[in-house]
Amino acid sequence: MPAEMFFAPFALMIFFAFGSSASSSAAVGAATTATGAAASAGLAASTAPPSAAGPAFFAGCPGPVSRLDEQVIDPASLRWISFSHFEADECGALNEWLNVAPQGTPVCSFVGANVSVNDFASRPARAMSNDEVFATGKYRFRFLATPHVPHCWEASLLFEETAATLFSSDLFFHWGNAEPKTTSDVVDRFKQGLVADQQGPFANAYPYTPLTEGTLKRLAALKPRTIALMHGSSFEGDGEKALNDLALAMRDVLGNGAASK
Ligand SMILES: [Fe+2]
Ligand SMILES: [Fe+2]
Repeated sequence: MPAEMFFAPFALMIFFAFGSSASSSAAVGAATTATGAAASAGLAASTAPPSAAGPAFFAGCPGPVSRLDEQVIDPASLRWISFSHFEADECGALNEWLNVAPQGTPVCSFVGANVSVNDFASRPARAMSNDEVFATGKYRFRFLATPHVPHCWEASLLFEETAATLFSSDLFFHWGNAEPKTTSDVVDRFKQGLVADQQGPFANAYPYTPLTEGTLKRLAALKPRTIALMHGSSFEGDGEKALNDLALAMRDVLGNGAASK
């Protein structure tokens, strides 16, 4: 999604999973639970000092690095810097992050690394395979290759298994200055925005492909207890139902040739 749309609710859309004090996660808004889930994570095969950890699952719009430096964590302690797909709001500031995190390594899909990231980033990425798990101390992140979900060939998502947190990138996108997290339905918010967007210049942000429904069902089967959105309120509750409902909403709006022409 275009980056410029998201500066106002910025603190709500970033989500991190890096080692820091649990209290610092409050500054991350939507990421509170997700961050707490990964707090104090250690590093697998890391040369970082004991206080450092990772990953951060977002490396978006230029500008956030200094803000986070002030509010959340010393960026120099980041070890892993990950994102869903190669788009400015996802990874446009990747090299800025790498500059301030000398031990940081990009983490992305095999396709992402080989098609774009390794040509763009100042250091090569760790190219992940579908379903590959990496541990950062007590937390385990399952890497999910999700081509074209939410969009882009190289798309991927992360699932933190110990706290059952799904980092969902653009899935469940909803407009407005939303609360950091909610236990209320987020699918209807998404669907309303999608229906409206299909009538305007942002139409067709989400391709509806033969992979879409199966991917969403696969995510639902993970039974996340928290879905950490990039754009909107993070959801706490029955993530399996939310993802199955999301699949229905996307099929209603985008499936069967219904996408805006
Ligand atoms: Fe996107
Ligand atoms: Fe996005």
